Amino acid sequence: MSVKSIIERSSPAWLRPHLGSLYLGLRRIDRQFGRPVDKRRRLKFAMAYVQPQVDLAKSWALSDSESSNFLYALTPLSRLSLAHTIATVFGVTPALVRSLFEEIENDEVFQKHVAQSLKALLPGVSSFSIGRRLGWYAVARIMKPATIVETGVDYGLGSCVLCAALLRNAGEGSPGRYIGIELRTGAGQIFTAPFNTVGEIRYGDSLESLGKLAGPIDLFINDSDHSMDYEAREYEAIRAKLSDRSVILGDNAHCSPSLADFSERSGRNFIFFKEEPAAHWYPGAGIGFSFHPGLSGNR
Ligand SMILES: C[S@@+](CC[C@H](N)C(=O)[O-])C[C@H]1O[C@@H](n2cnc3c(N)ncnc32)[C@H](O)[C@@H]1O
Repeated sequence: MSVKSIIERSSPAWLRPHLGSLYLGLRRIDRQFGRPVDKRRRLKFAMAYVQPQVDLAKSWALSDSESSNFLYALTPLSRLSLAHTIATVFGVTPALVRSLFEEIENDEVFQKHVAQSLKALLPGVSSFSIGRRLGWYAVARIMKPATIVETGVDYGLGSCVLCAALLRNAGEGSPGRYIGIELRTGAGQIFTAPFNTVGEIRYGDSLESLGKLAGPIDLFINDSDHSMDYEAREYEAIRAKLSDRSVILGDNAHCSPSLADFSERSGRNFIFFKEEPAAHWYPGAGIGFSFHPGLSGNR
């Protein structure tokens, strides 16, 4: 029964002159408290999405797993989107990209090397996945770059992924070299043989090291200082060193417009893949792709 009808039915004569203001007051109360069931239902609906992430955050906080540079896998749907994004950028079939994902996942030398060296380095980590680096691998396999440059190496997981691709490319007659640039001396702990046979790490500030680097760069991966301004300065530092078929993969594109802006200013195309981590509280980063228009038509 509405507030209005309650007032109309039960109002004595003395109350009638005041009915208007009483009605308005009661309507305010009605609005505030009148539909508690609705509010609870709305909260329950929202929490069905949020609570699983809160539970994952709690169990992560209590574990001894890695504290940053997470090693989560992608959900199957996210992996499928990544395969289609790469297929669209390069003009290849999604089936080919998926076969490259499986290639690195079934690469026994790579998997054994990374599992053993990560276990020694991060004893709290019981399992690992290369996550969105699957995309980096597939791109390096499709492009067969002569030079890959990655800024930000950390313990060297990306380095191993990229060099695993270069080792395969070399076996197929298309050799290439990897240069990792890293500020922290001692970083790159897992970047050992056989992966370091096709690459090296240069220690120092990336802007300084990029300035000294000779081109041309076919594949550039930005994953160092994640501030927008620093990222933008890295792209400017390599602008004149990029080859005609160059591709840039940005690891900051989920939170920064720097690669989109650079692409627009330099006549390149830009597209962003947003990842979805499987069973992790982190909302996910992604891969920004910057490439020449017509790249897909060249295949
Ligand atoms: C997110 S981690 C890189 C992860 C790595 N690409 C991978 O695939 O696992 C970022 C790294 O960038 C390094 N870094 C931060 N600022 C830098 C700078 N100005 N120059 C070079 N490296 C930097 C950090 O020391 C850190 O190891």
